[in-house]
Formats: sequence, C-alpha cells, structure tokens
Amino acid sequence: MRTFANSYLTAAAILLPAALLLAADVDTKFHNAPASAQATKNPYEGQDAAVQAGKRLYARNCLSCHGRVGKGTGNVPSLVNGKLDSVKPGEVFWFITRGDKDNGMPSWATLPAKQRWQLVTYVKSMGAANPAQEASTPAPADMRTSKFKAPPPTPPFTDFRYEKPGTVHKITVKDLPQPYATQSADNGPDLVARPENAWPVAPAGFKVELYAAGLDNPRTLRTAPNGDIFLTESDPGRIRVFRGLTSDGKPEQSAIFASGLKQPYGLAFYPPGPDPRWLYVGNTNEVVRFPYHNGDLKASAAPEHIADLPSGSGHWTRALAFSEDGKKMFVAVGSGSNVDDPDTHPREKDRADILVCDPANCKLSVYAYGIRNAGGGIEVSPQTGELWCSVNERDALGDNLVPDYITHVEEGGFYGWPWWYIGAHQDPRHQGKHPELRDKAIVPDVLLQPHNASLEFTFYEGQQFPAEFKGDIFASEHGSWNKAVRVGYEVIRVPLHQSGHASGEYEDFLTGFVLPDGNVWGRPVGVTVAPDGSLLVSDDGSNSVWRVSHTGK
Ligand code: HEC
Repeated sequence: MRTFANSYLTAAAILLPAALLLAADVDTKFHNAPASAQATKNPYEGQDAAVQAGKRLYARNCLSCHGRVGKGTGNVPSLVNGKLDSVKPGEVFWFITRGDKDNGMPSWATLPAKQRWQLVTYVKSMGAANPAQEASTPAPADMRTSKFKAPPPTPPFTDFRYEKPGTVHKITVKDLPQPYATQSADNGPDLVARPENAWPVAPAGFKVELYAAGLDNPRTLRTAPNGDIFLTESDPGRIRVFRGLTSDGKPEQSAIFASGLKQPYGLAFYPPGPDPRWLYVGNTNEVVRFPYHNGDLKASAAPEHIADLPSGSGHWTRALAFSEDGKKMFVAVGSGSNVDDPDTHPREKDRADILVCDPANCKLSVYAYGIRNAGGGIEVSPQTGELWCSVNERDALGDNLVPDYITHVEEGGFYGWPWWYIGAHQDPRHQGKHPELRDKAIVPDVLLQPHNASLEFTFYEGQQFPAEFKGDIFASEHGSWNKAVRVGYEVIRVPLHQSGHASGEYEDFLTGFVLPDGNVWGRPVGVTVAPDGSLLVSDDGSNSVWRVSHTGK
C-alpha cells in the first residue's frame, strides 16, 4: 500500500497519518470539563421532585433537539446510550451551562442554577425511562405551529410543505447564502404515531405497501445475492433476514441472523458476485464478519474481528462497501462533532473520512477525507465502478447552509470539512485556517437541501420500474433538526440519465412522512431493491419497512 507522504501533497499527509486506528474511545474527558466541575456535587441528587421539575424543563428546552426519550438525531447526541453514566453530575452541569455553540448545543447559563441542576438530575435518570413510550405518548400541542404560517421557501431551497413526488430540485454553488443569514434553528422532530389515514406518497403509477412493522430501530437494508433481504436493527444490535413475498406484499419468513452487536449499521456481502462467503458488518467501533452462504438465515459462527474503528462520540453509523474486484473494502466514519478542528480535538482523529483496506489483510488508511459524515451510505456504482457517498454536512450556520450531498468519490479527494465547504467557502468558525486546502476542496456532484440528513442509497438495477429509472440513485433523507421549517423526511431519486453520472438535479420520490401540522411519524433510513424490482425503504420513525412497486395504474 502506498504511503500518504508520496500519494498526496504534504499538507494532507501531515493531517492524515498512514498508520491509524488504534484506540477506539479517544474521548476520555467529557468535553474537557475542568477538574473543579467533577468535584461539584448535585444538591438535588436522586430527589424525585427534582426529576419531575427537570422533566418539565427538558420538555420546554431540550426535547426539540435531543428527542422525547433523549435518543438524539444526527449530530445531536443520545443522552441515554450509557455514555453519561460515567460522567459526574458536576460535569454535565458545567457543560449545560457553557454549551458548545459551534457544535449546535446552546448555553443554558441564563436558566437559574437550580433549574440547571434539576435538568442534570432528570437527564441522569433518563436512561431508565421506557423507550417504548416514544411513539405512543401523544405529542404536546406543537409549540411551533406559527412556523407553518412561515412564508414559502425561496427556491432552490424548499421545505416539507413543498415536497411532492416528481418535483425536481437543483442547488448550485451560486445559490449558497452567507453563513448566519438566518439563525441556527432548534426544530427536531417530535415523533408521533402514524395516524390511520397517513401513508407514504409515491408518484402516479406506483403503489406503497407496508412490508414489515413492529421492528426496533430498523436502519440499513441489503439484498443478498439469493434475494433474501437483510436489515440492521441498530439499537438492539441485531441483524434480521426476510425471505419470500406473500400476495399482499409481506415477507413469508423473518429470522434473526445475528444479535449482540454494538450498533451495527453497514452490511456488505463478500466476495462480490453470486456466491458470497462472508457478511461484513460495520459496528460503531469495529468491522466484523460472519461466515455466510446463500440461504443462511442464521449465522453459523461468532463474528470475527476485522478492524477497529474510531468511535465514542458524534456520528455512530459505519457504512461499508467493496470494490467490484473485491480488492478494496471501504468504510465511512463520520465526525465526532459538528465542526471541531481535528488539528486540536483528539476526538476527531481519523474521523470524517472514508477509509480503505485490502479485505484479505485489513490495515485501514484514508481513501478520501474532509467528508463530515458518509456513515449513512457508501456504494459502488454498478455502471462505472466508482465509489459514491451520501453525506450529512454541518449545522449551526443557518437554514440554507451547508447542503448535504451525494457524489462520486475521488481517491485522495478532500471534501472540505471542517475548514471549507462546497468548494472554496471557508467555514467562519475556522477563519484563516488551512489556506493551502482552499483550492483542493471538491464541489460534490449533487447538492441536496441543507440539513436533509441524507442516509442510505442504492443504484436501481431492477427490472420493474419504467426504463428511464434504470441506474438511477434512490436515497433516504432522514430529515432536519437545524432548519426552521423541516426538510427531508423523504426518499429522493437522483437521475443519472443512463450515463452513470449526475447532472446536479434530484427529484422527490416518496414523501408524506410529515403531517400538515409539522409533526413527524416516519423517517426513511435504508433503501434496497428487492429481487422483483420493487424498492424497500426502512423507516425508524414508525419502525417499519415500506415496499414501493410499479403498477402502471
Ligand atoms: C439546538 C439543539 C439543542 C438543544 C435545544 C439542546 N441541545 Fe444538548 N446538545 C446539542 C448538540 C448538537 C450537542 C453535541 C455538542 C458537541 O458535540 O459538542 C449536545 C450535547 C449535549 C450534552 C452532552 C452529551 C454528550 O454525550 O457529549 C448534554 C448533556 C446535553 N446536550 C444536554 C442538553 C440539555 C439538558 C438541554 C436542555 C436544557 C439541551 N441539551 C438542549 C444540541 C442541543
């Protein structure tokens, strides 16, 4: 394998060590809280009245970003994943007080100290709450209803009110506003149960059916060479398999392939082709593989460790893909924060990259960098053999910055994060840094709505959809929190015009996951093409998988 010193210019080589990925949890200190913070005691420790008061304060001040049960979304971290268990109450108090504006966490110094301690007491108690309440608890009256009297968006930017199957969007570099043209919004989805009359909406001629329901945090979907459908359920750490299709569009069989994994996300069969021997899995902290033969519904052996991955904060999903010749394994590792400088923040070491290794002897190195988070989806184009990625760009610069994107990936390419964005635009939070990288920052192929949270995608190689869809990309947009009126919460189509290359436009394909009042019931994550050519879409809002087929009617 080439070393970085001779494959890239020196500036990049300094940033990107050739040998990497040793320690998994770099973040030993909690946001660099001072020792005095550790020593400060919570005067309300364990008091039920403080938990109750904290719960009310949480609903008013924190829920919109961290979510009803504290699971977070995008780069808003989970407060219930166990990380806070080992953090002292005084450190949480210190962090809530100070906040971290550039990373999207407000300072709460204006709340009286008593209320901040009540919040700490509640947050520390949250892990024990029952997550099953999430969808069944009725949402409070929408505090932001006035937003829906907001004026229509200025094209090419849009919001959920104007997303409609078939609507074409195209954002170009000249459309980008100045940073901070609008305030950084605080508008996460408050999930509600799907009302009976709500259903995903596809273009005319397509039918949408509920393929599977009652899942737990369904994320990526992969179609095995024999036609079985693999699904990760990331929170419970499982991989599920579906087989067959009933006349009403449901799987005939469902089985658990493996469990006990740590936030599994990426799935890839190896070697590529009709007869794989292994299923590779991207856990949040490592790549593992299971022996696999066509037809297996259950792993025949324990997972084998392939490579450690940096983890411990921020973006946790790890997407996986193999080159067509099977000689490269790609792994996407998103940033640990919104915009922390890796030069000075240990938690960003070897992150915001797409990594590569030889699967026969995996020693990871950097394939492309400055990619804030491609952990939602990477995929090799069946037409050109190029690697493509779907990327979550950064928050806290206003409603219409920075566009998420889908692009083919250049080997050794630099995509800007955190100093630059969408080509030669400097992030104001890093003014004056790394001028030598300015002209290296690549403008991606397809700019998506900022804050869309673009996740998994697939190239449509099925036989069922009309011929003009052949080879096109279908991508899940999980939906915004950092935009005043929501955007995303849909599946999009990126037309490649039978050329394997994008022209910059994309089109709304599957919408309807946001209700007219702004409440959200569904959030697309995974997408794959079933053997009969229908499109399957996982949705971790309603915990289901949808099946979109073309009927022509
Ligand atoms: C506008 C969105 C937003 C709101 C509102 C918000 N947070 Fe945050 N919070 C964030 C983001 C983004 C981070 C990650 C910051 C970072 O990585 O430095 C964060 C981080 C945290 C953390 C650290 C978690 C960790 O694992 O590192 C705690 C604790 C926290 N928030 C508590 C709260 C509380 C309590 C409230 C309400 C008083 C609140 N937050 C309101 C966005 C928000």
